Amino acid sequence: MAYHEGVRLAEPPATGTAETADDLLERQRLRESSARSYPRRLPIALVSATGSTVRDRQGREYIDCLAGAGALALGHHHPVVVQALHDVLDEGAPLSTLDLPTPVRDRFVEQLFAVLPEPLRDGRILFCGPTGADAVEAAVKLARTATGRSGLVAFGGAYHGMTQGTLALSGRKAVKEPLGTLLPDVHHLPFPTAFRSPFGLDDGAAMAGRLVEWALTDDLSGIATPAAVIAEPVQGEGGVQPMPAAFAATVRRATRAAGTVLIADEVQTGLGRTGDLWAGEAIGLDPDVLVLSKAIGGGLPLAVIVHRGELDGWQPGSHAGTFRGQTLALAAGAATIREVVRAGLAERAREAGRRLTEGLLAVAADDPRVGHVRGRGLMVGAELVDPGVVDADGVPVPDGWLAGRVQRAMLERGVIVEVGGSHDAVVRFLPPLVISDDELDRVVDAFGAALRAVHAEADEGGER
Ligand SMILES: Cc1ncc(COP(=O)(O)O)c(C=O)c1O
Repeated sequence: MAYHEGVRLAEPPATGTAETADDLLERQRLRESSARSYPRRLPIALVSATGSTVRDRQGREYIDCLAGAGALALGHHHPVVVQALHDVLDEGAPLSTLDLPTPVRDRFVEQLFAVLPEPLRDGRILFCGPTGADAVEAAVKLARTATGRSGLVAFGGAYHGMTQGTLALSGRKAVKEPLGTLLPDVHHLPFPTAFRSPFGLDDGAAMAGRLVEWALTDDLSGIATPAAVIAEPVQGEGGVQPMPAAFAATVRRATRAAGTVLIADEVQTGLGRTGDLWAGEAIGLDPDVLVLSKAIGGGLPLAVIVHRGELDGWQPGSHAGTFRGQTLALAAGAATIREVVRAGLAERAREAGRRLTEGLLAVAADDPRVGHVRGRGLMVGAELVDPGVVDADGVPVPDGWLAGRVQRAMLERGVIVEVGGSHDAVVRFLPPLVISDDELDRVVDAFGAALRAVHAEADEGGER
């Protein structure tokens, strides 16, 4: 019997067959794990995309303020990325070479090093498995190996990925609690936030900084001097929380004093997103290890760490994996880095972020349910609150229900946004850096209209 007898091959859909979005969503619901997440809040099936626009099965267009969770700095199908991909295929370059050198890999490394923060330009790069989480894992392993210590300090509200190690470093308790013991010897300290400060004070930067200093350098702190401190210069999933520069300076000073490795997780903030090429550099975070993924692959899976050379005490193969720099991602990534710099997209992100923030603030001025608008560059969040209920500090409580309804109402108005933060009450805007002013204005209009629509629904006795 031939080996394939009895094996059923899936029939490709007949040309012209138009399954509706509902068909696709239903088939996905039946086949895929209940861990699937985005289609629950954003029930659309996408078929094509250009720039900041995506199109669904019905031909409806949406402005994409999710952009592959920040992976698409240049938006969809940017010509320089498309050309780079064609070039690889036309050259017949090998697509997967583990970590064997290729001209495409070499060009990526040269391109990245040319734009890195100055102190890392004579450092080393390690290609990781193609996810941000794997790169964070590598950074932690590197710090532990280099220092001979095991402890790790991370911050409340952090997000570093979904592996058991990176979850241990992350803030959200609901995804950790069912799992029992994760990576041990991880300590969380408060992250200073301008709104809903863990200290109930201004942004709490001074207090949070003192705590880091105390934990790392006080001989009675109870925390064995850690291998590493890991931080995001702007917390993304944590609800768009920019790290205050004063806090960054203290973290840098304390880690230096303790001989602790400082890891900046710039998976989401890196490559222009926050209005600076590297978000940490602009606030003086000056890391020993920089973790990069998302934008540096030009929308294809790629992740690296770049670190100070003196940390490189690893044995060969200490962090291996099959897909460490896949050729198409390296080509797309090199083209994206070049284009972000050539077109001044970090500066553009700053200017566009200002326009978006001003628009959202204008909505907030007329609507007490928008409790706080914040961000850096094109990483912007609007925290929705219930103005009728305040916490012990007199701050209105987060309203995740409202944020979910606004997200859905914005989708109905042709705009895709994400939610995050405490109780998922922060509407997050993470569009491609190439988004136009006109598109930004439409995003703001959709936000205002969505809030009004949800309000009207509630007035008519709609369910909470
Ligand atoms: C700051 C940060 N670190 C790590 C990760 C994990 O990246 P990945 O989802 O590719 O594992 C993310 C993903 O959103 C992130 O935002």
